Amino acid sequence: MKKYSSYFEPSLKDARKRLHKDTAIINFHMEPRYFDLGKNKKYLIKTYGCQANIADSERIAGLLEAMGYSEVFEDDKSDLILFNTCAIRENAEDRVFGEVGRIKSLKKTNPNLLIGICGCMPQEEKTIKTIKEKHPEVDLVFGTHNIFRLPEYLYEIKEKSEKVFEVFSYEGDIVEDMPVKRDHNKKAWVNITFGCDEFCTYCIVPYTRGKERSRSPEHIINEVKELASNGYKEVTLLGQNVNSYGKDLNIGYTFANLLSDLQKTDIERVRFTTSHPKDLDLATIEVMGRRGNIMPHLHLPVQSGSNTVLKKMNRKYTKEDYINLITALKNAVPDIAITTDIIVGFPTETEEDYLKTLELVKEVGFEGAYTFIYSKREGTPAAKYEDDTPADVKKTRLLNLNKLINEGFLKGNKRFEGKIVKVLVDGESAKNDEMLTGYSEHNKLVNFKGDSSLIGSIVNVKIDKAYTWHLRGTIVK
Ligand code: SAH
Ligand code: SF4
Ligand code: F3S
Repeated sequence: MKKYSSYFEPSLKDARKRLHKDTAIINFHMEPRYFDLGKNKKYLIKTYGCQANIADSERIAGLLEAMGYSEVFEDDKSDLILFNTCAIRENAEDRVFGEVGRIKSLKKTNPNLLIGICGCMPQEEKTIKTIKEKHPEVDLVFGTHNIFRLPEYLYEIKEKSEKVFEVFSYEGDIVEDMPVKRDHNKKAWVNITFGCDEFCTYCIVPYTRGKERSRSPEHIINEVKELASNGYKEVTLLGQNVNSYGKDLNIGYTFANLLSDLQKTDIERVRFTTSHPKDLDLATIEVMGRRGNIMPHLHLPVQSGSNTVLKKMNRKYTKEDYINLITALKNAVPDIAITTDIIVGFPTETEEDYLKTLELVKEVGFEGAYTFIYSKREGTPAAKYEDDTPADVKKTRLLNLNKLINEGFLKGNKRFEGKIVKVLVDGESAKNDEMLTGYSEHNKLVNFKGDSSLIGSIVNVKIDKAYTWHLRGTIVK
């Protein structure tokens, strides 16, 4: 296959534009001509990156199954391998191309094998260039805005034996009613916003995912109610900045309103990610304080403890604002577990800036964090900032930060020793099939002995011992 039956290249410059046009809502329906396209065919999706991608992969799987495809987990049994990719850091991108290169030999034994790349990486010009120059084995490329067109792409490839490369760079729309094949039957992801308008100076997401678009409250609430009536116990609301939910709808309905409405539904657990300190408001904290089904855990990325760095990152809050939020949260939800994201080695970060991050970590008492070394993203403002910190200094910063974070992790776990926690049982532990595993309300990983019939239910577990990464306990009535 050489020619393209369809070809559209991305442009990071176009992706940056915000033209303030209304968001279109597309109601998806599958055309009958696609129904049998996947009959007797197998697919495998490899998902990288954040929950937005995990949720997208569930929709891609839904589309493929509606076309008759069935899922497999082995490369050599697949007729279609799709890489749903992430562009957030360079190492995420390198991993994908390594894997694509490894898989191309499978085309020798299965000449009908299709290899596709979708998600955030194709939204960057450089990815398209690399695919065209080095990966002729790739048959299909699409981006984050056109997942719903996948059936058409597979149809075109089959009818014309030509490649499809189609990536759009614009603000984005909302597609409702796509089929979905969820990975879990008790826990579900529920998108509340798509895209991001924050333009943190280091971050590629506003370019790969379009402008911030909120789904309507009705669509979200109905989805959650339906999940609850289908036996789901937990939902995680998804958005790059959930706290700015609703602003684009101009109907005077906020994230606090949404949480409050979901508190009244039958779903047993509500989580949400990611929160932004600039938009997390007291109204939301008050709703969290009423507790009900809102879980006592908050992931609140701080990124840095230095006001100079925060300003250069365009985060639009200060360290003091952040501490005030933490105080308000701890007042409203006294036992809350707080986790965060931190970047070290941001361009111009000095040793003094870094030490301020360590101080903040101690002051807040985070119970976990994702920590990263800054990775330069072409097309973002920070890519032009002077970056004179040597790589080994950045590594040492990360290492020492992680030590401190892990102490906080253990301390946060220790507070549950001797206590009884409620665990939503996910399944058998990967390491030991006599052990069950699941998450507590505070989002702590809990392992305990139990019968597999308990999978999917919420059980009481008395915590015997806390470790850095998990809790171990005994089931109690
Ligand atoms: N919207 C969310 C998640 C963004 S991506 C948020 O604002 O928190 C998840 C994390 O990746 C970010 O919080 C940030 O810590 C990290 N990250 C983003 N861009 C990065 C980059 N260029 N280099 C290193 N880490 C980055
Ligand atoms: Fe990236 Fe900032 Fe948007 Fe998060 S809020 S996705 S870090 S631009
Ligand atoms: Fe990665 Fe795209 Fe998510 S860049 S972090 S998969 S929004």
